[in-house]
Amino acid sequence: MSADLTNLLDGYLVSGEGLVVDNPATSKPLATVRDYSTGEVTECVEAAAAAFPAWSQKTAKERSVILRHWFELMLAHQEELAQLITAECGKPIAESRGEVAYGASFLEWFAEEAKRAYGDVVPTHKANARIIVLKQPIGVVSAITPWNFPVAMITRKAAPALAAGCPMIVKPAEATPLSALALEKLAREAGIPEGVFKIVTTRNPAEIGKVLTTHPDIKKISFTGSTAVGKILMRQAADTVKKASMELGGNAPFIVFDDADLDAALDGAMASKYRNAGQTCVCANRFYVQSGIHDAFVEQFSARVAALSVGDGAVEGIQVGPLINAAAIDKVEQLVDGATTAGAEAIVGGNRSDLGGDLGDNFYQPTVLAGAQADMAIAHAEIFGPVAPVFKFETEEDVIKLANDTPYGLAAYFYARDLGRVWRVSEALEYGMVGVNEGILSTEVAPFGGVKESGIGREGSRYGLEEYLEIKYCLMGGLST
Ligand code: SIN
Repeated sequence: MSADLTNLLDGYLVSGEGLVVDNPATSKPLATVRDYSTGEVTECVEAAAAAFPAWSQKTAKERSVILRHWFELMLAHQEELAQLITAECGKPIAESRGEVAYGASFLEWFAEEAKRAYGDVVPTHKANARIIVLKQPIGVVSAITPWNFPVAMITRKAAPALAAGCPMIVKPAEATPLSALALEKLAREAGIPEGVFKIVTTRNPAEIGKVLTTHPDIKKISFTGSTAVGKILMRQAADTVKKASMELGGNAPFIVFDDADLDAALDGAMASKYRNAGQTCVCANRFYVQSGIHDAFVEQFSARVAALSVGDGAVEGIQVGPLINAAAIDKVEQLVDGATTAGAEAIVGGNRSDLGGDLGDNFYQPTVLAGAQADMAIAHAEIFGPVAPVFKFETEEDVIKLANDTPYGLAAYFYARDLGRVWRVSEALEYGMVGVNEGILSTEVAPFGGVKESGIGREGSRYGLEEYLEIKYCLMGGLST
């Protein structure tokens, strides 16, 4: 690692036993960081509980100034943070720079929203009384964050928590603790005390997850990751009735109607599917293309996908990096092999990439599968890889049924120009987010989140702050005496 990166991790790297972090592009170790024990994490929870009164009693403006400083420091260190993200998660460097800006945007947004945690005065039901609704910080929050956006998924949780007055303890994914620790270093520099924002790294996520979901001092858990793990965390948190925000798996349909602007649909499809090598929970997972435009779409989409450059994300210009690890490659391979055995045709790709040189085994060819069918496993699983199965459909009614035929409900996309269809389909899709003639939805100003088994709660936007606030109703009586 370069000197600049090591500076940003000063004090966090250990020698000997610890959590070893690999570079998914080369499959070689990058660094070792501390492996927190359950006892040490419990102490961090107690420290957060002790820090809560002072942090929550600061004025909103005082917290806002500190968050704004953190935002500025993130942007000042955008390049080093981006290099860390690429080194540990494999994302192309241009996307990592984008992630740092996206991650920082939550700090900027919630630095402002901190000042707008307004309560209410409700028209009274009694002449001599008044009803006041106060918004108060919920208390200590724990967060468990994923490897695919190792910076932005932390700030999307920490910014509203800290803005509301809540301390937060974050357990980052085992694969990507380095950029999380760099973020913590910048938080300290911005004036955020250790008790108020703490990263705990571990080789033992299940045990640490248990502390973070069961300790009575923790009042809320915020998780981004798979639906299966989200369900376990919710069960664990149930005993102490913690509030939960869950941003879970997806199976996003991407629908192209006959009346779509084909070039716009192709741009959206490329952005939505191949961002981070298809490893985002809002990535298009199933492409439904109406019969009149199907062949043209498949031909032009395949040509664009064939032109993608695959390699080490640290090299400028690379568009598709490695998948995170061997298990991810195995899963994608099984889904593609299952689909082709059942009759789908790989128009582009369809195999692992063998790039040779210093590069390891975590690369998969960008792939387009034509002739996908609803009974194939690939129609129901979250692919999390650079593979686009294309399904042909005939009518609007059919495609809505197909698109909604999943327990997931995170993001959906469709391309159409008929105004009546735009309204009908937007309303009929059972998803928390719908992109209409747009392939990328994410922004700090809009509510991100899913329905059905894709989650609970919203992140970003003015709704994101509410997740960290409790409502207290005060009935003030005896006012006429
Ligand atoms: C995710 O994949 O969990 C988040 C993607 C995004 O914020 O765009």
